[in-house]
Formats: sequence, C-alpha cells, structure tokens
Amino acid sequence: MARAGARVAAKPNRPVALVTGAANGIGRAISHHLLDAGWCVAAFDLPKTSLVQQFRGWARSSLTIEGDVADEDTVADAVRQTLDRFGRLDAVVANAGIMLRRPIRRLSLEDWRRVLDINLTATFLLARAAQRALRSSKGSIVTIASTRALMSEPNTESYSASKGGLLALTHSLAVSLGPDIRVNCVSPGWIATSEYAKLKRKDHTQHPVGRVGKPQDVAEIVAFLLDREKSGFVTGANFVVDGGTSRKMIYLE
Ligand SMILES: NC(=O)c1ccc[n+]([C@@H]2O[C@H](COP(=O)([O-])OP(=O)(O)OC[C@H]3O[C@@H](n4cnc5c(N)ncnc54)[C@H](O)[C@@H]3O)[C@@H](O)[C@H]2O)c1
Repeated sequence: MARAGARVAAKPNRPVALVTGAANGIGRAISHHLLDAGWCVAAFDLPKTSLVQQFRGWARSSLTIEGDVADEDTVADAVRQTLDRFGRLDAVVANAGIMLRRPIRRLSLEDWRRVLDINLTATFLLARAAQRALRSSKGSIVTIASTRALMSEPNTESYSASKGGLLALTHSLAVSLGPDIRVNCVSPGWIATSEYAKLKRKDHTQHPVGRVGKPQDVAEIVAFLLDREKSGFVTGANFVVDGGTSRKMIYLE
C-alpha cells in the first residue's frame, strides 16, 4: 500500500526525481543532495521507517511515498503520485536494497526470491512504470548495484546475483530506452551509513584512497549521472565507487 505525504504545489520548472530506499543511508543522502541542488524529490520507502521525518525540512519540494518497491501496483502508483504532485518526472534512482548473508544450504527459495524481487525486479517495475514520463522529459535512470556484482564473500549468493543482474538490466535498458532515456549504474564498495567515527584505522587504510566511503560519495556521482548537460554522452555504464578496493590484489602471508 502506498501513502502520499502533504500535497503542496512545487515550482514547475524544477527537475523531479523518484528515489527509492530514501529513508536511510545512501538513498537519503542522494535525496537530500538533489533537494539541496534544486530538484524536487519523491522519496519512496517502506512504511514504519523514518521517511516522513527525513523530509520534513523540504515540505514544498518533496513528496513521501510509503510502500514496497517489489509490489507492482505500488510502484505504478508511486510514479502516478509523483506526476500528480509535480507534473513531471526527470529521474529515477533505484536504490532500495536488502542484503542476506546465509549459507546456501539454509537459503530458502522464498529468501532468494525476496532479495531478487527487491534488488532487481523492483528496478524493472520502476523503469517500466516511469519510461513514458522519462521519455517526455529526456530523463535518466540510475541503478545502485554493488562491487559484489563483480566479486564475493561466502554466503551472499542472492545479493551478488541480484546486483549482477542489475548491471545487465542497466545496459539492456540503456539500449532499449535510448536515445531519450539514459540508464547508468553506480556500484558502491564499503559505504558507512552510520557511526563513521567508530570505524577502525585498518578499516580506512585497507582502501587505496585511505578511507571508508560515505553516502555523499555516492550522491555526488548520482547527481552527475542525472545531469544531461554534464553526462549526456554516458549511458549503459557502471561506475565503481569503492575507494579503489576492488582493484587491489590481496595475497595472504
Ligand atoms: N552501504 C554499503 O556499503 C553498500 C555497498 C554496496 C551497495 N549498496 C547498495 O546501496 C543501496 C542502499 O544501501 P544502504 O547501505 O543505504 O542501505 P540501508 O539499509 O541503509 O537503506 C536501504 C533502504 O531501502 C529501504 N528498503 C528496503 N527494502 C525495501 C522495499 N521492499 N521497499 C521500499 N524500500 C525498501 C530500507 O527501508 C532502507 O531505508 C542498496 O541497494 C545496497 O545494496 C550499499
């Protein structure tokens, strides 16, 4: 079930983004960054999160939508609510995601499907529901995958598979929806979404750039990819934002 926040008219000439998983972490940073840069944002997250609270400061330029990104009708309704409120849609940021670490012998089919539904199928649903509006605005989609699309720890099959699928879905959508709509992917590495000060020295030093990532690191590149003036020649691409970690060879002594 989806629920709209307060309806207050926004300035019609401002670009509008629909961001999923907007109540926390990376999605919240992306949403706040876009709002600060003059965008209007439809912020989508599950009920019983701090979603409404997170966007109280932007009553005129934001809309909060509560629901499950894996639900077909809810996603279609979220796009409709965004268009009703703002009259246009210029960007979709498919960021909502969950991670499940579970040995494969204990990974149920239900577990597997839930991760795939939220991390991968939801992006298909969003792209399909939004494509008409994005075509008319010459807009853009950014998917949020992970370096785990390209490398793994044990017991992360459903997450890695969902993120690998997102890379393929990204280039497939870019080819199908171009030239009107650009579609790109950002693959974060370790992004600390809370208690950055509590990280250990070795957490930072294992990264070639000397620090763990922050949500703002992802928000900056998403904003760049949504800006047709700056990134108009970029589509179907995957941008790894991991402080160089996935480029480092590790030999145990
Ligand atoms: N933080 C990292 O280190 C990291 C690294 C690589 C990739 N990522 C990816 O970045 C994205 C954001 O991660 P984060 O660290 O900010 O996570 P987070 O858990 O802090 O935030 C994810 C948000 O998605 C929402 N969400 C989950 N399921 C949903 C559903 N069914 N419908 C609607 N909303 C739902 C949650 O309520 C939450 O607000 C995810 O796709 C994640 O896989 C994160």
